Amino acid sequence: MTAGPATPDAAPRDVSISFAEFDDDPTPNEPRTVRLCLLGFGSVARALCELLAAQERVLAERHGLRVLISAAGTRHGSLLDPAGMTPAAALAAVGDRPAPPQAARPAPELLAASGADVLVELTVMGDLSGVAAGATPYVPAATGHVLEAFRLGMDVVTANKGPIAWTWPDVSTAAAAAGRRIRFESTVMDGLPVFSLLEYTLPDCRLLGFEAVFNATTNFIIDAMGTGRRYEDALAQVQAEGYAEADPSNDVDGWDAASKAAALANVAMDAGITPADVEHESLADVPLERIVAARESGRRLRLVSSVWRETAEPGDASSPGRGAAPFTGRVRARLRAEELDIEHPLASISGESLGALLHTDLMADVLVSERHALVPQTAYGVYADLLHLCRTS
Ligand SMILES: NC(=O)c1ccc[n+]([C@@H]2O[C@H](COP(=O)([O-])OP(=O)(O)OC[C@H]3O[C@@H](n4cnc5c(N)ncnc54)[C@H](OP(=O)(O)O)[C@@H]3O)[C@@H](O)[C@H]2O)c1
Repeated sequence: MTAGPATPDAAPRDVSISFAEFDDDPTPNEPRTVRLCLLGFGSVARALCELLAAQERVLAERHGLRVLISAAGTRHGSLLDPAGMTPAAALAAVGDRPAPPQAARPAPELLAASGADVLVELTVMGDLSGVAAGATPYVPAATGHVLEAFRLGMDVVTANKGPIAWTWPDVSTAAAAAGRRIRFESTVMDGLPVFSLLEYTLPDCRLLGFEAVFNATTNFIIDAMGTGRRYEDALAQVQAEGYAEADPSNDVDGWDAASKAAALANVAMDAGITPADVEHESLADVPLERIVAARESGRRLRLVSSVWRETAEPGDASSPGRGAAPFTGRVRARLRAEELDIEHPLASISGESLGALLHTDLMADVLVSERHALVPQTAYGVYADLLHLCRTS
């Protein structure tokens, strides 16, 4: 969903990028130029540049758009060309280097120098070990990037769940105050349109709660353990196959899934929670015997994120929406290992697939899932968000 501002006359509206700002003298036959500042230039940013390059003709002919990169930055390097370079040229300029070739610049400096229309925020959520130890509320670096972009008059697209999961009130308030928009479809299900589904395709339908399998790395580990491998061996196998990071702690300890649950709950249920409010357990604490026993009894163990209001039990969508005040109770969230009956809609979510069972008031239960939650799908979600911003201007 878009965080957009309340207009002075209080009429809700989708605040748009004005393309009149982009080109001095646009003509109907000349594509309008949209310039991006990419913060983070890892897997998703590179896949996005490849996708934009592959779609260049479609963007021009179908949408009248020319998308250029005016800056790209990481903590270790940068690339700056305020006039804008094609996505293919940006990729070529970075090549196989781990970071863009010019000296690193602080994010606010790069953003300001870029003159971009849209910040595409693709940095990482960061180290949550301090949060696990009960430190003060966590503020991802990306939140600072997003707020600075709004201050500079830019809209934002991000796949980074940090700002939405940890600091949604600040981010949405700042967007409203600045008259800018932020879109974040790829934060929760790697490009599968869950926010857009609720925002546009199910009008007036309210989300009452949900259950979801949100993390593919732990799916792979559980699948491997289901064949009798110990946790450490299963993790090593999944890492060797490229399905787990060298440091998989955010996945295994539940922070990734908890952050996705918080992000969806904050935006679609006005939950006002952070991932620290999501009770969660680590997959490392789930005994092998439990996973194997579930499989032998015809069930499937899954790490399930559940979000519900205190007025209803987790997964109970029967009364809310038809009774009184189902939208006022405090939102609760947890992530725990559950043995699902083989008939359960989430039992078949395994490996690189993700799924969520959404409980709504007007459409009852809606199951959304994707078979391949991989980097190209994440890049596509960012692309779709960008296109949405451009097409609704
Ligand atoms: N990969 C996926 O399929 C996927 C799916 C859904 C969502 N996402 C989200 O999308 C984002 C990008 O993912 P990715 O796979 O592209 O990650 P990645 O390959 O690890 O790349 C992250 C990039 O961000 C840079 N970076 C990290 N912290 C930074 C900071 N504070 N300031 C500036 N640059 C910073 C890193 O470079 P330096 O180390 O040089 O700073 C690197 O270029 C993440 O938030 C991730 O959770 C990814």
